[in-house]
Amino acid sequence: MTFRNPFVVFAVSLLLAASLLNQIADAATANKAMVVTADDRATKAALEVLRAGGNAADAAIAAQWVLNVVEPGSSGIGGGGFFVYYDAAADQTVTLDGREKAPMSAAPGMFLREDGTPVPFYPDRITGGLPVGVPGALKLLEEVHRRFGSGKYSFAALFQPAIDLAENGFTVTPRLAGFLDDEKDRLGRFDGSRRLFLKADGTPYREGETLIMTGLGKTFRLIQKEGTGVFYGGQIGKAIVDTVQTAVFNRGSMTLEDLAAYEVVERAAVSADYRGFKIVSMGPPSSGATTLLEALKILELFDVRPREINAEDAALFSAVQRIAFEDRNKWLGDPDFTEIPAARLISEAHAWERVRAIRDGRFLKKLFEDVNDVLSALEEQAKMEKLTRPSGIAAEDSPNTSHISIVDEQGNAASFTTTIEAVFGSGMVVEGWGFVLNNELTDFDPIPADGEGRAVPNAPGPGKRPRSSMTPAIVFKDGKPLIIVGSPGGSAIIGTVFNMIVYLLDYQMPLDKAIAAPRFIHRGDALEYESSANLSPEFLSELSTYGEALRSRRLTGNVQAIYIDSTTRLIYGAGDPRGEGFAEGY
Ligand code: GLY
Repeated sequence: MTFRNPFVVFAVSLLLAASLLNQIADAATANKAMVVTADDRATKAALEVLRAGGNAADAAIAAQWVLNVVEPGSSGIGGGGFFVYYDAAADQTVTLDGREKAPMSAAPGMFLREDGTPVPFYPDRITGGLPVGVPGALKLLEEVHRRFGSGKYSFAALFQPAIDLAENGFTVTPRLAGFLDDEKDRLGRFDGSRRLFLKADGTPYREGETLIMTGLGKTFRLIQKEGTGVFYGGQIGKAIVDTVQTAVFNRGSMTLEDLAAYEVVERAAVSADYRGFKIVSMGPPSSGATTLLEALKILELFDVRPREINAEDAALFSAVQRIAFEDRNKWLGDPDFTEIPAARLISEAHAWERVRAIRDGRFLKKLFEDVNDVLSALEEQAKMEKLTRPSGIAAEDSPNTSHISIVDEQGNAASFTTTIEAVFGSGMVVEGWGFVLNNELTDFDPIPADGEGRAVPNAPGPGKRPRSSMTPAIVFKDGKPLIIVGSPGGSAIIGTVFNMIVYLLDYQMPLDKAIAAPRFIHRGDALEYESSANLSPEFLSELSTYGEALRSRRLTGNVQAIYIDSTTRLIYGAGDPRGEGFAEGY
């Protein structure tokens, strides 16, 4: 048996005629600090905080509230998120779970119809009061401020940039205009949403128009004055419960007790070494860290050389994602309710066991020289396939969610992914308070048991947190942050971050090229490639020989990433050219 043999380049190595590659990513360089968010106004607000002596934690909080205003359909106070923070002084990475929780009235069959089949995902399952989870974002950021804030800013002060934008109005971007247009029917069903996001004639705000969010300004001002209790039990909390319980579609039964009981949890940071780098990301209830790291640990068994993106590598990158996704679907859920063998899943021993599930003998021959070893590996694979077939098809996903990457002058790093799930979440704005409630509970598996009646780990249940795919990550080199990265994109987030890490570490691409390069995602049922990448027929024909079903689709990533080059002392930041991300530093 030989390990890590160099690849024999037999695949036709093809330069991609990719239109994406020709796009210029928003790239920035700096020496001291960098902020990258999905919107220039959020980036600038965070940068202002840093310049005035705040740190990465403070800046991330300011950025989130501005994103709540300018990207109201993507994240905010009505949702939840995961915060991965490298505290430079303590030389420690902490992972905080601000995931939404199901109310105590939630039940395993809550998304099933009378005939036992799931309620169709769009628009019925995701809309209205039933899919709303108890929001975690506000308490999460209060905890971030309490534990990591610089002391320069009070928690209340960090709402101010967002209040100014909400009350004075802001210009609707093409991305927001597109989302508003896509979701106008859902928004139009609810008075609070219609009054905020649709004009008097019933049409949504268009690109370049000014949207004013007085209600959200009022929410932020009241929290400034009275603290977070007003949201988790007071006046705003009552309005949330009322919105959920009296929804004109899909009533839910969240109570004030559910809101009051919400708690942020510090989870054990999940990390693994990958080719000499250390990667830390968010563990359960996110499936991000374990799935990303399992895929990378399998890939680590192969010797990937920097070269042009080619069909052979794309097939291998996808195969390892497929295998990791099989384990994700089998094991991942809320760790407070189900045992998850996280350490095992990301171990080298597990990678050796699971690499056999690669379908193509050409890859296996690189690892198992002896033909008998290859045959027994393929036999093993056949057995494993039976045992571990994923239960579902590719999970329904959304281009929604938002990611914030920040590094400050002290070397603290924030990698924060934040969401209200679908574009405009549940479709419901809390009337008069200007924020959208999430539909995070649709991240639960709608079918709560397998064919033999055993509960699946991600079944809905009272007080449970639905499995996430958010993958806020920090890659370390010699103990210092090298890459800060994350993305939206539903369950495609994991593959999106995987592609970024492989392009940066294995292909050694510069950040702006890595972020623009075509992505290859596998979530268990097909190798998905970007329809906009204009892959050549020869490339696709070669790709089809590796045994994975192919699917062209518009991928939903919107990566915000930072790369810190300790040799040159330059910090690079780039927002995804597929979105409106913006990087700036100093
Ligand atoms: N709702 C997106 C995720 O948590 O993965």
